[in-house]
Amino acid sequence: MSKTINGFSKLTKQEKIRWLTDHFSSDPTAATQVFSEWQHPNAATQKVVDGFTENAIANYVLPYSIAPNFLINGKNYAVPMVIEESSVVAAASSAAKFWLERGGFHATVLGTVKLGQVHFRWAGQPQKLQQLFPEIRTRLCAACDDLTLNMRSRGGGIIEVELLDFSALEPQYFQLRASFETCDSMGANFINSVLERFADELEFFFTDYPGLLDAERDVEVVMSILSNYTPECRVLAWVETPIASFEELALSQGMNAAQLANRFAAAVRIAEIDPYRATTHNKGIFNGIDAVVLATGNDFRAVEACGHTFACRSGQYRSLSRCTVENGVFRFELEVPLALGTVGGLTALHPLAKRSLEILGHPSADELMCIVAAVGLAQNFAAVRSLITTGIQQGHMKMHLTNILNHLDATAEEAAAAQHFFQHQTVSFSGVRSFLERLRGKNDPAGVL
Ligand code: MEV
Repeated sequence: MSKTINGFSKLTKQEKIRWLTDHFSSDPTAATQVFSEWQHPNAATQKVVDGFTENAIANYVLPYSIAPNFLINGKNYAVPMVIEESSVVAAASSAAKFWLERGGFHATVLGTVKLGQVHFRWAGQPQKLQQLFPEIRTRLCAACDDLTLNMRSRGGGIIEVELLDFSALEPQYFQLRASFETCDSMGANFINSVLERFADELEFFFTDYPGLLDAERDVEVVMSILSNYTPECRVLAWVETPIASFEELALSQGMNAAQLANRFAAAVRIAEIDPYRATTHNKGIFNGIDAVVLATGNDFRAVEACGHTFACRSGQYRSLSRCTVENGVFRFELEVPLALGTVGGLTALHPLAKRSLEILGHPSADELMCIVAAVGLAQNFAAVRSLITTGIQQGHMKMHLTNILNHLDATAEEAAAAQHFFQHQTVSFSGVRSFLERLRGKNDPAGVL
């Protein structure tokens, strides 16, 4: 049976499922049933979701959770998070509550500039290109008047177009690097359309321009695409408190407040020094960032790619957050580039993304940047706080236990008994299974019934 096909995309959804399960499943009936069940009950909504990508055959469900009590720049938010990893939302909520009583999170947008590039080859002398460039730039921008009209009326558009000469690194390679203000939209389509128009206009320019040598008419556009590295589209979020406010937490861990604050700062410094730790540290930050980015219909791959490049800006991969303990004050901050939108893209199309933005009070892109950065910081705070005190497994295992109990179809009564029993025991799949077996058996050696 051939496992390849032409025209898969032309099949109906049922035909796609049928072909797939016939060819790739060991149990086509069961697989067909699963794919057929994971559809939205409302056909119109399902049609919208199917429209997001090619060859959609089912919906892949992730939990949509809320982290309440986020006080950010004096405003209270209940933050939607889409993430499957146990304990992330619990950790964000716990950090939100902790900082609620300490003035909350503060955040400020440091810039909103987005970037795009046209990569091209040109056979003439670099100086000649530099000379022609002011005229080229004027022509490029004028050629995009119709494309930028709407954005300009909202206060955005093309900010600048620069010519970069890379011909010393790659023969004849030059680059147009353009910067944009895309207001409340992420702006990917806008930027890419403008760049492709630039590319066309660049070719026209060299065809038309009077008095050029034949070789100078030769321009070859290699590609035109936005850059996901947007270091100037950046936000700073921070929390600050006198270290005395750590007293209760510190005492519960057998430390004093200063010891706890200093251990926390040391943990962050380690992530600045060591890329192995920095990767995990930043992963914890993106646990929070991605979850809100996803819940609001934004592009988490773009945000991640950009964040990790930014983390390397010194030439070494480092922590995105910083911590200081000075004059009795603990300050913890996160500086991260975030190219987000609150209009366009999936934000209005995806029913839950739309609802997330409503729950957040219809934020501007700037406000969403502040919210997302604050959640990233909260997540990082919660992770580091656990790591330097109880260890991470305590929180993880609580959620892990719930997942195992669900998997083993535990009743509410059995689950309560297991939660009690495993408070002071190591959670493992086999341990929970034996516990339930004992519980379900006639005798009850665990002594919990
Ligand atoms: C787990 O998803 C994230 C952490 O490993 C982050 C960290 O170590 O800082 C807990």
